[in-house]
Amino acid sequence: MSYSLLQRLPITLPIVQGPMTGADSPALAAAVSAAGGLGMLGCGMRSPTAMAEAAAAVRQLTDRPFGMNLFVQATPTPDAATVQAALQRLAPLYAELGLTPEVPAQWCEDFGAQLDALVAQRPAVASFTFGILTAAQVARLQAVGSLVVGTATTVAEAQAWAAVGADAVCASGMEAGGHRGTFLGDFQSSLVGTLALVPQCVDALDIPVIAAGGIMDGRGIAAAQALGAQAVQMGTAFLTCPESSISPAYRQALVQAKDTDTRLTRIFSGRPARGIVNPMMQAMAADEANVPAYPVQNALTGALRRAAAAQGRSSHLSLWAGQGVAAVRPQPAAQLVATLAEEWRAACRQLSAATAH
Ligand SMILES: Cc1cc2nc3c(=O)[nH]c(=O)nc-3n(C[C@H](O)[C@H](O)[C@H](O)COP(=O)(O)O)c2cc1C
Repeated sequence: MSYSLLQRLPITLPIVQGPMTGADSPALAAAVSAAGGLGMLGCGMRSPTAMAEAAAAVRQLTDRPFGMNLFVQATPTPDAATVQAALQRLAPLYAELGLTPEVPAQWCEDFGAQLDALVAQRPAVASFTFGILTAAQVARLQAVGSLVVGTATTVAEAQAWAAVGADAVCASGMEAGGHRGTFLGDFQSSLVGTLALVPQCVDALDIPVIAAGGIMDGRGIAAAQALGAQAVQMGTAFLTCPESSISPAYRQALVQAKDTDTRLTRIFSGRPARGIVNPMMQAMAADEANVPAYPVQNALTGALRRAAAAQGRSSHLSLWAGQGVAAVRPQPAAQLVATLAEEWRAACRQLSAATAH
């Protein structure tokens, strides 16, 4: 039996706002934390300076615990021919927005420097995806008081995090919006659904499990708890809060999406991620296998996606969203957390009444 994650943090509600690189904000994280959940900052693409600024902004708004999340990544050194071929494939899409593609100034942030910045910030939770830390890196974060949470898409990945000393695992089912965190097996065989993944992780570990993927309301929270999760991590549900930092075109695509509208694709970033199907995804579908791996493709499409957001064109945006997207409820984060808490309690009451018969 694992310790109580909620007591350790401490937070009052079993609700984690998923870190969402490029879509979350200090205002969103602070609102969720102030409402009794755990707000998170996705810092995968934040520089060390931007990480410090974002953490300071949260701390100005609330004194409640919050978390910060990084991509475990190594800076790549792609050969020039690969880069040129990828740019050529993207050129027609850039042209549609009146742009010419260029080689970006950097492929990704330096992970070592980001980790140093994370240690300096000492957030209540330091969470990771795309890879795994060493036991020494985990211990370094724990020494400054951060709880270390690793993202897992399979039981083997969850066990790997437990083996390096993580304090909890976020079990991310294939329903989840955004990138797959897979770092051990191949992506295809690591597409385990939340309902199957969570209880198997719970059984395999003696640290708390946080369930992620497709959870949109209080019924989903109760269901995850029934599977043995101590908390849920919700991303898509928080995207339509006014505090998120997404563009109006992305916001509109979210409120119009149906349950069948999302797919996994690697055309935007080079790593499989779930988002709403749009013309750019369809245009590049045939080339998907040739796209360079993350973070090269991610950097090569960055200017395109920024321009699309500025021009209000969802056709060229990465519209990350989970399979529950049709259940989004645009409302301020504090209100959404209060609604979720009320629904969760009602679902628990209903379940216990059902067993009384
Ligand atoms: C736009 C977007 C960006 C995301 N960015 C990150 C990230 O930077 N780091 C991370 O660990 N998870 C990231 N995720 C995953 C979420 O934190 C969360 O686990 C996931 O959204 C849960 O599934 P749901 O979308 O079905 O609620 C992202 C998800 C979305 C929708």
